Amino acid sequence: MATSTSQSRLKYLLHLAQDNLDFRLPEIKALLALRGKPFHSSGDFKEKSPFWCLDGLSEEDVRGVMARSVCAKSAFELWGHGQTHSELKTSLLNYPSENMSPFMQKDSTYRINVYTFNKTLEFVDRIKRIDALEYLPFEGTVSLKSSQHIFCLLEDYGTDPNDIPDQPNYIYFGRWIADGQRELIRSHSVKNRHFIGNTSMDAGLSFIMANHAKVNVNDLVFDPFVGTGSLLVACSHFRAYVCGTDIDYNTIHGRGRSSRKNNTWRGPDENIRANLRQYGTEEMYLDVMVSDASKHVWREAALFDAIITDPPYGIRESTRRTGSHKDVSRPPDGIYVESHVPVTQAYHLSDIFTDLLNFSAHHLVLGGRLVYWLPVYRPEYCEEMVPPHPCLRIISNCEQTLSSHTSRRLITMEKFKKPEFCYPRFSGRVVMEIVSRLLGSISKQKRGVADKLQAQRWSHRVQLNSPHYSSSQHLSSSLHPSVDQQLPYSQDKLSN
Ligand SMILES: C[S@@+](CC[C@H](N)C(=O)[O-])C[C@H]1O[C@@H](n2cnc3c(N)ncnc32)[C@H](O)[C@@H]1O
Repeated sequence: MATSTSQSRLKYLLHLAQDNLDFRLPEIKALLALRGKPFHSSGDFKEKSPFWCLDGLSEEDVRGVMARSVCAKSAFELWGHGQTHSELKTSLLNYPSENMSPFMQKDSTYRINVYTFNKTLEFVDRIKRIDALEYLPFEGTVSLKSSQHIFCLLEDYGTDPNDIPDQPNYIYFGRWIADGQRELIRSHSVKNRHFIGNTSMDAGLSFIMANHAKVNVNDLVFDPFVGTGSLLVACSHFRAYVCGTDIDYNTIHGRGRSSRKNNTWRGPDENIRANLRQYGTEEMYLDVMVSDASKHVWREAALFDAIITDPPYGIRESTRRTGSHKDVSRPPDGIYVESHVPVTQAYHLSDIFTDLLNFSAHHLVLGGRLVYWLPVYRPEYCEEMVPPHPCLRIISNCEQTLSSHTSRRLITMEKFKKPEFCYPRFSGRVVMEIVSRLLGSISKQKRGVADKLQAQRWSHRVQLNSPHYSSSQHLSSSLHPSVDQQLPYSQDKLSN
């Protein structure tokens, strides 16, 4: 067996997918943090590279990360590396034999794979690469189909497909340990999902969000803009209990027009619970309800381990909240009739985000994470535009480009202190039933213009969050208008 000295020198190699580059480091760091381990890279760490060497971990840690990661493809125990094959040989011959020998025994079976990044090798060249490793003391039998141990030679030819070098930039050799969870992207694709909407979140990004949020077994996770529940699907896969709210009656009740091609209306069992049932996680489903995020219905307590959400941007769905600017009065007894449907008014993006941050500061447990998308107009974006909160620290801020001028940023924040004062609470009805119209029919061209306008409005309003403006003043004015203003009574009903 390996000695403790040689064990402590073990390094691990991660092979990462080359999409969603920005999201990879926060994902791996969050998954390591879940295991109480810091991220330590070894050697010349390049964040955009498909290969990262990690230090200070056990094989169990690496298996734990790979059991969750959708950004990492595979992990290896690194036995040797170098810029040339001769450097690799020297490195491999220096690797402690006591670390190698348990996997090279006579009665074992093994195989060696050759993987090249940014270059395709002919079959004969692959065989040559394997033959060149004859200096390694393999004693077992080669078995291509059911090998006990799998080894891999990995060659990195850089990331520029227009400039592929003849010789690899770097070469690694290691023992395969585990694959990541890339398969989830296919198995949970929204294409085959029971219940979807116009803004259903892509499966891969949903899992990345759950990972950035450090969602753990038996956690309680909340999505205040739940839509068709894609984020609940991802969190329930990691065995968290999930719940959500949405202002849209049809979405919550699985009614109305279908977002599927060739289907006009939603079927009888198209709802979020059915989505979780489809993936075998129905027991993690708590409930969803019709509710306006601007007037949340939760008691004042740190209830949630994570809040994960994709707020409306007003591009493909309207940003509405209950209320009106008109002078409307409440019924004399203050109680609304059963069939009352509140009117809605515009819910500005900056208010959505300040409400969300404030809600999270009050309702996350200490150490709990808020993960949400922030739309930005790229030419004007700067880091100061990310809404701050005195109780939440920014953990990561990753860009997903949507067009040359627009992108959305995945913001992860962690609650590190309790709010010092308690804001007035909304005390209206728990469930309100309103119908929100989706702007799905907006043409692509119009959408581009809407994108820009919305982003400009946002960047203007965000200035209010600058250090020159008192943030508590802003928060209290935008978050806590009087209850009367928040819930005006009106007989007007929105119709489909
Ligand atoms: C981008 S979608 C969320 C999509 C969701 N992640 C999914 O996968 O289906 C935003 C959702 O917020 C809802 N919404 C808009 N305004 C709201 C409000 N004031 N309170 C709660 N939900 C609201 C919309 O009805 C919409 O379903």
